[in-house]
Amino acid sequence: MTDIDWESLRNAARRVASSAYAPYSKLSVGAAALVVDGRIVVGCNVENASYGLTLCAECGLVSNLHSSGGGRLVAVTVVAGDGEQLTPCGRCRQLLLEHGGPECALDAPGGITTIGAILPGAFDTEELEGRRRPT
Ligand code: THU
Repeated sequence: MTDIDWESLRNAARRVASSAYAPYSKLSVGAAALVVDGRIVVGCNVENASYGLTLCAECGLVSNLHSSGGGRLVAVTVVAGDGEQLTPCGRCRQLLLEHGGPECALDAPGGITTIGAILPGAFDTEELEGRRRPT
């Protein structure tokens, strides 16, 4: 975790937060992640009049990850419009687990942690594979 440039990652998240479409909650969110090949991918939240269709910043980030070549997330930061770290919502913890695994570093409000630490006992692909009905 020591060679991650968290300040650059936070700045990328702060920049993309300014593109958020959040007329309902008025909470702009930006997410930025370091990919295993060194790329930085970002995303911002995009709300909807039907509220439940809102896309979190992490959703945009994951779409950006795959549309720019895929790969594993190594480190993630999520910030609000005030520039400070924001803890990912429950759904996005699962989303980040899928694309970064439990060891993926997370810039949480209380300090650097991992996705696994904030989503203990997660349902993952291993569980899915092991529990499928026989074909
Ligand atoms: N939001 C995110 O973008 N990511 C999170 O992890 C937490 C919540 C957004 C969704 C919505 O647009 C706004 O913050 C308020 O919930």
